[in-house]
Amino acid sequence: MNIVALVGSLRNESYNRKLAEFMRERYKDKFQLDIADIGALPHYNQDDELDPPDVVAAFKRQVADADGVLIVTPEYNWSVPGVLKNALDWLSRVDKVLVNKPVMIAGVSTGMMGTIRAQLHLRQILQSPGLAAKVLPPAGNEVLVNVANQKFDEAGNLVDVATIEFLDQVIERFIQWIGR
Ligand code: FNR
Repeated sequence: MNIVALVGSLRNESYNRKLAEFMRERYKDKFQLDIADIGALPHYNQDDELDPPDVVAAFKRQVADADGVLIVTPEYNWSVPGVLKNALDWLSRVDKVLVNKPVMIAGVSTGMMGTIRAQLHLRQILQSPGLAAKVLPPAGNEVLVNVANQKFDEAGNLVDVATIEFLDQVIERFIQWIGR
């Protein structure tokens, strides 16, 4: 099974990227997880969508070929970061490679809210006709990692046991969701 991760933060020390990397390692016996380079995508431009730059075409192919997509994103100003929305806008057009694609959402914040507002927005975005993804339902599956500095150690490893155990359960449900 192969999963593509879209990480909504570009910074080097991103907690969200660290969560994606943690999942890549912890679940390597269940699936291969590749983190897409969404920071390399140009701004979406409708003039280019029928003949997109190579980097966009390759990204769309990567998503089209995946069994599922994992979105790990911070909350920026109560919503998703522009870099993630930009990637989704590319995916929403022409071949619409996210339609019916199984998607799981997770997010890390440094504050208390654990990206809940961004995730609610993201669920709404993913329902739009151009995306229409098969998103893992929220009940019991909301991976909201708050106060990140207490849950990752100095080296950037996720060490919070309750979070890890919960993640294990959600991943099992995501794998079942992909198989349905
Ligand atoms: C934030 N942060 C933030 N946190 C939150 O809970 N709600 C929010 O609306 C915002 N808005 C916001 C905007 C911008 C531009 C930045 C840079 C940050 C804080 C955010 O949770 C924190 O910086 C995380 O560490 C970002 O995730 P990464 O980069 O560590 O993955």
